[in-house]
Amino acid sequence: MLIPEDILQTIRERVSVVDVVSQHVALKKAGSAWKGLCPFHAEKTPSFTVNEDRVTFKCFGCGKGGNIFTFLMEVEGRSFRDAAEQLAQKAGVVIPTGGDEAEERARRQEVEAIREILELASRYYRYQFVEGRAGERAREYAASRGLTEETLATFNVGCAPEGWDNLARYLAKKKLSLEHGERAGLLVQRKNGGYYDRFRDRLIFPITDTSGRTVSFGGRVLGEGEPKYLNGSETEVFHKGRVLYGLFQGGEELRRTNRAILVEGYMDVVMLHQLGTRGALASLGTALTREHVEIMKRRVGEAVLIYDGDDAGKKAMERSLEIFLSEGFPARAVLLPDGEDPDTFVAGGGDLEALVQNAPPLFDVTLGFISGRHNIEGVEGRIDAVNETLPVLRAVTDGLSRDLYIKHAAELLRVDENLLRTKVAAKGGVATTEEVASRDTLDPLQLALLRVLVHDLKARKAFREKGGETLLDNVLIMEASIFVASREERASLFPLELAGAGLQEILSSAVMDDSPGDYGTIAGALEVRYLRKISDDLQNRMNEADRSGEGELFKTLAKEKVAIDRKISQRLKYKQGNEK
Ligand code: UTP
Ligand code: MN
Repeated sequence: MLIPEDILQTIRERVSVVDVVSQHVALKKAGSAWKGLCPFHAEKTPSFTVNEDRVTFKCFGCGKGGNIFTFLMEVEGRSFRDAAEQLAQKAGVVIPTGGDEAEERARRQEVEAIREILELASRYYRYQFVEGRAGERAREYAASRGLTEETLATFNVGCAPEGWDNLARYLAKKKLSLEHGERAGLLVQRKNGGYYDRFRDRLIFPITDTSGRTVSFGGRVLGEGEPKYLNGSETEVFHKGRVLYGLFQGGEELRRTNRAILVEGYMDVVMLHQLGTRGALASLGTALTREHVEIMKRRVGEAVLIYDGDDAGKKAMERSLEIFLSEGFPARAVLLPDGEDPDTFVAGGGDLEALVQNAPPLFDVTLGFISGRHNIEGVEGRIDAVNETLPVLRAVTDGLSRDLYIKHAAELLRVDENLLRTKVAAKGGVATTEEVASRDTLDPLQLALLRVLVHDLKARKAFREKGGETLLDNVLIMEASIFVASREERASLFPLELAGAGLQEILSSAVMDDSPGDYGTIAGALEVRYLRKISDDLQNRMNEADRSGEGELFKTLAKEKVAIDRKISQRLKYKQGNEK
């Protein structure tokens, strides 16, 4: 269900960006703007700028920009709808859900009920583990894995007793809805009615969100058995792709070391914590997602991956590289000997800290896998290796970094750097938004035009009427200009959240920069430039016609050129007249 535009508009008008940002960033007044340390990249001097009357934010360090909606989405990892709902509350408006407020209230109540059941279940499992007779085998198993009571308490480890419906009966006794128990991912509906427990006879690892609220559980068999681990099913409050195990327990250490150790398993996180490495995180048996990387990016400056050296571990590493690169988040990586994981490595006396210290960049490790798969001594093998590397290099969004990676990859694969560069750029011949967006390639004059459109309603009208987009040849600036020209509201009320990331960045820059400009002057200059290009082109074709003796063609082209040149001098005269 789409959120009505007028509601979004009201939110934009009523909610102060300074208010929203202040909850995450300490802001200080600096002139007409507010400044603080950017939450999106590590910096020591504030370049994160918020402008109250503009309703936008912009970091002049890393380029991130947007409005209140995108800010909450990025910083708190919310969906657009989620962010809008939170802001709607602040604004004192209600987002209708299919026109039915009662329905919305019912949905909220259900989420609350699910959360309540999750908390209750976590206490139940913990109680069984610590006090219950049923917990004896689980306690023995945990001890056999070398886990201390303190560690078990820190991670709130519990156990599900043997039997089909212990939890179901417990919830029923507490007068809680079993249907909600199912929606919490803990009960499974029987074909012929009734529910049974999802977790039975397992060691239970509660999974929490960043604020420590239980969102699901992971259950391990006590000893051998299949499946070794079982996770709660996806629910309204639990999405595997957005949770990292250990984040809550590692909070302080993550901040202190500014680094996350990324491992594969629950047991690795818990064991490393026990042995003093508290900033370890694991995805829950799923491939690393963009959201995972974004979660880390908000808290630490780098990730160090320590994975099992088997094929699965290698593949997982390789897959994650593209995400790290496109997020521009630094990662280093170590593969352990085949069949070892951080838990067994450390338990066997291995020095994890040394491993972490010396971990090479994930990029190098992955390129090592790629060249290892092919015989890069031979031409054909090298071609295959290059082809497998191309998507990786294309994933690097920052222009400068990509250039450096290309250099490095060319060395590793022993191919010509320029050739590799051409290959990377030749992505179907189309430049991506990111490529076009890389700041150093943006043409100042075209940017100036966009800026005028942003700040001057009359300019937008002129742009629409005269087909101003024909003056622009930068795809991104063109898209942004068309977006702006089609709107009637002032810049501060732009629905930036409707625009893509590249557009948001360029638009928020334009909104922030109100250096004055005149549409006629800038459009005139662009037009002259455009005409000059045509004129040059005509001259080239004339030269060619001359060389090949095509007299008629030469004359036609010459006539055209005279007309164009006349236009140019008219425009220039007009401009000079105007400046007087
Ligand atoms: P591992 O097999 O490496 O588990 O799987 P582990 O954490 O080291 O556990 P121990 O030491 O054998 O007790 C890594 C992760 O993959 C997921 C779990 O999240 C696990 O922690 N997994 C594994 C499953 O979801 N299901 C499985 O059957 C196995
Ligand atoms: Mn293990």
